[in-house]
Order: sequence, then C-alpha cells, then structure tokens
Amino acid sequence: MEKIVALCKRRGFIFQSSEIYGGLNGFWDYGPLGCELKRNIKDAWWRDVVQRRDDVVGLEATIIMHPSIWKASGHVDSFTDPMVDCKTCKKRFRADQLCEELGLKLESVETPTGKQFKLPAGAKCTACGSDQLTEPRSFNLMFKTFIGPVEDVSNVAYLRPETAQAIFAQFQNVLSCARQKVPFGIAQIGKAFRNEINPRNFTFRSREFEQMELEFFIKPGTDAQWHEYWVKERMKWYESIGLPASKLKPYVYKKEELAHYASACVDVYFDFPFGSQELEGIAARGNFDLSQHQKHSGKSMEYFDDETKEKYLPHVVEPSAGVDRIALALLCNAYYEEWAPTSESAGSAPIPAEHGKQPPAGFESRVVMRFAPRIAPVKVAVFPLLKNKPALVEKAKEVFHLLRSQFVSFYDEAGNIGRRYRRQDEAGTPFCVTIDFDTLGEKGPEMKDTVTLRDRDTLKQERVSIKELPARIAEAVK
Ligand code: GAP
Repeated sequence: MEKIVALCKRRGFIFQSSEIYGGLNGFWDYGPLGCELKRNIKDAWWRDVVQRRDDVVGLEATIIMHPSIWKASGHVDSFTDPMVDCKTCKKRFRADQLCEELGLKLESVETPTGKQFKLPAGAKCTACGSDQLTEPRSFNLMFKTFIGPVEDVSNVAYLRPETAQAIFAQFQNVLSCARQKVPFGIAQIGKAFRNEINPRNFTFRSREFEQMELEFFIKPGTDAQWHEYWVKERMKWYESIGLPASKLKPYVYKKEELAHYASACVDVYFDFPFGSQELEGIAARGNFDLSQHQKHSGKSMEYFDDETKEKYLPHVVEPSAGVDRIALALLCNAYYEEWAPTSESAGSAPIPAEHGKQPPAGFESRVVMRFAPRIAPVKVAVFPLLKNKPALVEKAKEVFHLLRSQFVSFYDEAGNIGRRYRRQDEAGTPFCVTIDFDTLGEKGPEMKDTVTLRDRDTLKQERVSIKELPARIAEAVK
C-alpha cells in the first residue's frame, strides 16, 4: 500500500486534502489523473446501469434534505457506531475494530432503545496498552449543520450519509413523470458524508465519499429472483471495468446478520493489499424505506398496478457501491513492477520484477498501471521523436489535436522517448503514438503518414496510418 499511496501522490491520482495545513483525516482530493479515473468509473456505471437500460432512470438530489427524511429512515436514531476512549492516552476507537484487533468479540445486548455494547474482559488500548477504557458509547455518524443564521435545534440539518433516501423521498415524483412501470429503477450518483470514528486504509474508509446507488422497485414476492439478477449483473460489471473475477468474492449474509426488514444481502468483496473488503452491498430491503416515508410524511407511497388493478408498496433491491473504493481497487489491481527492455524497439516483452533484485542486462525497472483501456485516465499519449525538429513537432501536434477531439490525450516532448514511455506507464496510458522521420516520408512514400502505436502491456510497436488511429483506439477503449 505504501508504494501505491506514493505513486498516487507522485503522479497526481490522490492527494491528502488540505495537505499544506497538515491534512485532514478521512478527506482526500483527486488530482489530474485521479479525477479522470473517477469520472470514468461513474460514466461506466451510469451508461451501464441507466442509459443502456430501458428500465432505469436517473435522479440528482440535494446533499442537504429535510431532516425528517433521516428520522424516517432510521439514521437519526440508529446510524451509530460504538466508540470507546482510552482514558490514559485519549485515543478514540471504534469498539468493534478495537476488539477485532485484539482478537476479542464485542458483546452486545438488544434493549428497547436499540443495541447496547459492552467491552469483553481483556480489552485494552492498542496504542498505549492501558486498560483504562470508557464503556462503548453510541456515536451518530451523520455530520450536522444548521439551516439559516440561527444555530438551534429547530434548524438542525444533516449532510446525507447515503444517496439512497432521496430516491425513496422522490419516488412518486419520478413515477409520475418517467412513464415507468414496476419493475423499474431509480439511480443516483453523488457525495455522501459519514463522520467515521477511524478513517483508515487510505481512501477506503473516508469521511466524504461518493456513492452510486440504484433502487430497483419490484412487485412484492419477486424479491429473491431480482436480488439474484442484480448480484449477477453487478459482479459482471466489476469484471467489465477490469477487476478480475479471481479477486472478487460475493459475501452472502446469514439470516441472523440481516437487518430485520431485509430478506437477502450480498456484499461484493475485493482482495485489497490490506485484506478482502467490501466494494458494494446488494440488499433486498422489502418495502421498509417506502413504508417509513409513507408513515412519517403522511403521503401515499403506493403504486397502482394497471394490469392487476392492485395497489401496493413496491419492494426494492438496492445495489449500493462506493466510487472511491472502486477507484482504490482499480489502482491496487493495476499496479505492477516489471523489468522492461531498455530499448523497446528491441521487441522483448517485459518480465515481472523479482523483489530485491536488479534487472538483468538490457532491462530496466518500470512501474506500470495496467488499467483496462475503458477506465484508464488518459487513453493515448502523442510524442514527436525529437523536440528540436519543427517538422516532427508540427506533425505530432496535428495528430494530438486529431486524437484529442475523441479521447483524453496527452502531448509530451520532454526527455528521451524511453523516459516518456515510463511516465505514461505510471499513468496507465494504454497507447503511445510516436511521430518519427518515417511519418514525414523521409524513408520513402509508403511510410508517409504512418506512426508507431505502442502497447503499454506488451510493449509491441506497430506501424499504423494516422487515418486508422482513431478507429484503432476507439475499438480498444469502448
Ligand atoms: N444505501 C445503502 C448504503 O449506504 P453502505 O454499505 O453503508 O450502504 C454502500 O454503503 C457503499 O458505500 C459501500 O459498499 C462502500 O463502497 C461505500 N462506503 C460506505 N462508507 C464509506 C466510507 N466511509 N468511505 C468510502 N466509501 C464508503
């Protein structure tokens, strides 16, 4: 992870938020490459989950909503984590994480006001070793703010801890305009905020993050089949953006782990360097949310089925994914250390680097981000072979402008070609195009207006005509 975090900063994928002031724990900024990567994830999801389907429509709701939404959803009363403080060194922990680190199990009892937690015997501070810990206290994870100038309880509002609730609250409005019939879905991408007690593992657990959520409304009784359908769809989608099936695992909830209203839940886990962890949860939530909003707002959330002439509260299957976690999974999965031939035109393929050893003669170390072309931040880089030959530079800029109108492209003329390739390898750019003297027709008319197209992974170089380039790249990144 240290190497990945360093690369993310060096190459402009991810920076610490407010770094010049010492940073802010749990907040991260995305640099030039990182924001392209995130945008590609969101665009791929939106295209596949919304635009290419007949039965899903979109929504973009506000981050701050009526506080009653969070009362109805249960977040005001029970969106909490149990927290303990060390009385000696003052460090704060999430009680379940502390117990997990100590190999203990946090004890809990159901009470009329929700779950109450108790530390097991043997619990101690993992920072200073003291056994002087407070009893677990519930800590609400929602960020609070005030609407208007008066900071009193009647003006309290929350930054949304998930995007999903707006979809339920706007269910009737969307239904009345979208000409959709159950089964159909409403999708939303947007920021969510949780005042996590212990943000950790780089961006994995942040306090500000982005979610991509779908609420797929279904007829009661069809929950199991739709849940199974969405689990399959979502697993396939992760493979389509380049995460290999071998690193993805569904975690199927046991009956006793399910929320009282849920009939099924599967989390999609990915093998991160710090362990197998959740990317997405796919839950069959019954009609819990719509019925809560119906009760709290006094407005009907029912659906009238034209065919059967029945009225009912639709059930819902909810695939809920985190953009930042997917970005982190893609970064971890893409990172490779290799030995590549010093002169690429020699035609040798790269070989995996051996830890702690020097590359053999004729090879040098390279870090390469093997993003799927569809998701790579930059699709193609264009280089003139030499920057002090105006005819090469002029032609290279012409090719760059041609490609830039269709793909995120990068122009680079600084340093020798090998160095420029290495920079693009670290950025994960699938293609590099070099304009040389052959392109200008100096070695004969048959090579005129052809360029070398270099493949990031195999290092193979092909001679391709400029005319063919856009189609070649488009085919690979679609
Ligand atoms: N509406 C359901 C819901 O919000 P969740 O499991 O709490 O469910 C869904 O969150 C997804 O949001 C998670 O699978 C994860 O990808 C992302 N997520 C949740 N908390 C996060 C955090 N603190 N930092 C980054 N991503 C987070």
